[in-house]
Amino acid sequence: MDLQEIKLKDLDPKRFIEEKTNEISFIVGDEIAVNALSGGVDSSAVTMLGHNALGAKLETYFIDNGIMRQGEPERVVSIFKELGVPIELIDAKSEFFNALKGLKDPEEKRQAITDAFYRDVFVRLVKESGAKFLLHGTNYTDVEETVAGIKRQHNILEQLGIDTQEAYGYKVIEPLIQLRKSAVREVARALGLPEEIHKRPPFPGPALAARVIGEVTPERIELVRKATAIVEEELQHTGAFQYLAVLHEDRVTGIRGGKREFGMQMEVRCWESTDAVTGTPTQLSFDVLEKLGRRITEEIPSVVSVTYNIAHKPPSTIEAV
Ligand code: XMP
Repeated sequence: MDLQEIKLKDLDPKRFIEEKTNEISFIVGDEIAVNALSGGVDSSAVTMLGHNALGAKLETYFIDNGIMRQGEPERVVSIFKELGVPIELIDAKSEFFNALKGLKDPEEKRQAITDAFYRDVFVRLVKESGAKFLLHGTNYTDVEETVAGIKRQHNILEQLGIDTQEAYGYKVIEPLIQLRKSAVREVARALGLPEEIHKRPPFPGPALAARVIGEVTPERIELVRKATAIVEEELQHTGAFQYLAVLHEDRVTGIRGGKREFGMQMEVRCWESTDAVTGTPTQLSFDVLEKLGRRITEEIPSVVSVTYNIAHKPPSTIEAV
């Protein structure tokens, strides 16, 4: 890989912002650029960089793909509205669920999300806006893991030899590609983004679909969405790197109200990590674990089993899909 990383210790966030702002402004010129905001630190930093560089020549979309967390689309749009950055909320739920229908293989699901995003929804938005450029929050680790063949990050295109101009009709600009997440957080902070954004725990591009083993349907997403809300509420003060819920495909026999229930299994994961490249499970207290088990089975009636992941990364990965 001939891409040069800018390490956190070598990063001057203010200078980086100035350079990237000038670069974006120079490349885009008088054309229009678009970008998709998810609320994660990468896409948020790119949105602010793009907004500073391009103002009204940048159109930012929040694509509601139906696989985001509870209340997430509305919350993210409102944070940016407060910062004076207009965001258009696009309802693309049906495109994503149609693309995911019947798929169980992890890489096929990731591919379907990539295609729904870049080929279906984005191509339409780019056409409608007349944009020639897409600003993109790809970071150094995304490229590294995809090139190494570990997990296909949904946002990697050119590094896999995909000519976006030919495949999708627009050019991609990736201002964060030399930074790892910790460096992106510093840039996001220097850009004036609130703590809720620059300290936001990582969340994967394929969103809750990365946490559903087996077919991704609106109903199964709703189960993992509810469990995620519980896990995030209970574990937000742990200081852990990332915490999540995973819906399993296999069912197990349970008992509720004196009756047999062939129910769902939910797995909780909580990670200690600095860069997501390696990870260890957080040593949560048994009281915390037991409360999670109780809340998940009581508040999501179809779940009868809750487990806690105790494997390290590697060989595990942080997400399940
Ligand atoms: P894994 O599961 O590969 O995750 O150990 C490493 C870190 O990356 C996040 N992740 C993603 N982020 N697009 C992203 O932007 C993706 O496709 C993706 N998959 C995983 C994951 O949440 C963890 O922080």
